[in-house]
Amino acid sequence: MLRSPSNSPGGVSRRVVLGGGLAAGAGGCAQAQPVVAPARDLGGNPGPGLWEIARGRGIAFGAAVQAQLLATDPAYEQAYAREAGVLVPEFEGKWSVLQPKEGEFDFRLLEAIVQWGQARGRTTRGHALVWHEAFPEWAVNALSEGAPRARAVMAAHIARVLSTTRLRIRDWDVVNEVIADPPGSDTPQAEGELRNSPFLRALGPSYIETAFRLAREQDPTLRLVLNDYGLEEDTPWAAEKRRRLLNLVRSLVRARVPIDAVGIQAHLQMDRPFRPQVFGDFVRALRAEGLSVLVTELDIREASSVPDDFVARDRLIAERAGAFISSALEAGVKTFLTWGLVDRYSWLVLEPAVGRRDGKLHRGLPLDWEYNRKEMWRAMARAFASA
Ligand code: XIL
Repeated sequence: MLRSPSNSPGGVSRRVVLGGGLAAGAGGCAQAQPVVAPARDLGGNPGPGLWEIARGRGIAFGAAVQAQLLATDPAYEQAYAREAGVLVPEFEGKWSVLQPKEGEFDFRLLEAIVQWGQARGRTTRGHALVWHEAFPEWAVNALSEGAPRARAVMAAHIARVLSTTRLRIRDWDVVNEVIADPPGSDTPQAEGELRNSPFLRALGPSYIETAFRLAREQDPTLRLVLNDYGLEEDTPWAAEKRRRLLNLVRSLVRARVPIDAVGIQAHLQMDRPFRPQVFGDFVRALRAEGLSVLVTELDIREASSVPDDFVARDRLIAERAGAFISSALEAGVKTFLTWGLVDRYSWLVLEPAVGRRDGKLHRGLPLDWEYNRKEMWRAMARAFASA
């Protein structure tokens, strides 16, 4: 799954990195960065992890995790054991993994994560029941076969997944990314306020309400979450996305749809302005509807204008993380997850679509390429500790 970073000649072999002393560190060979300290073992990251620091203040902290890496990379596993109190499967709870063929469910990878967590007293949250991505071809086709068939397919998936997992996974993203990107964005999805997804095309706007009601039927005590992105920053684009989301949420609450919380993904971008007041007001408006608000996928994308120097870069990222988390805490957010924990495996590094355009590697997670805590970790620890 790990592809060689484009700006590290020949790729960085994990053996070499774990062996320590990789000159220039995180894929920095081509960037003539200063030598990064060798990878340290657990002893190099002493003291309580983020989840324990957060827990001391009544806050939950966790991260997206990959079952395959938990099983194969001991340093990765140690990092999660140390830092993450909540786990969310990066792939393993998505439709294409759980039901790759109609009626054929496979919970093995998801169960591996849940069990790893249970053995260590960590909880797992579910992600995501209804999403237009990681959605297999058979299901796209089935949804196009008319509303009754579409509803039955959606109902069967929700019922099977929740009835199988409900005693161990108590918190689910029921719908993910249902708000359309505002016009003027670079996606072709801008059609009305809801995303033009296979679900919308098959069932109309009520598919959202239907999904929540189907989920609630399986268990009255699960936390049912609506999760979305692009809501955090102080731009007209994000303001429009916030307006649309608030609109939707208010109409769901008015219709007594069983929604418990809104998940704010928080894939932050350094080239967009962030204003704590604006973001805090949005969180407070959601909470005024009686909902909890979670930060579900925090990571930070750098602009290419950031300095080359790792120390300066990491300081800017840390400042943004600290400001964001502090404003969320102040507005009443009590659950924070980052989307991954270690830069080495971040989708910001592995996915060209979200990678830096200049070929350099993002440093948008609390632990660096060699699993060491960096400034972002310290900014998060400070924000949690002073909550
Ligand atoms: C991403 C994964 O991290 C990638 O590896 C995958 O290829 C695509 O999905 N919002 C979400 C997550 O809700 O599920 C996405 O995860 C990131 C954006």
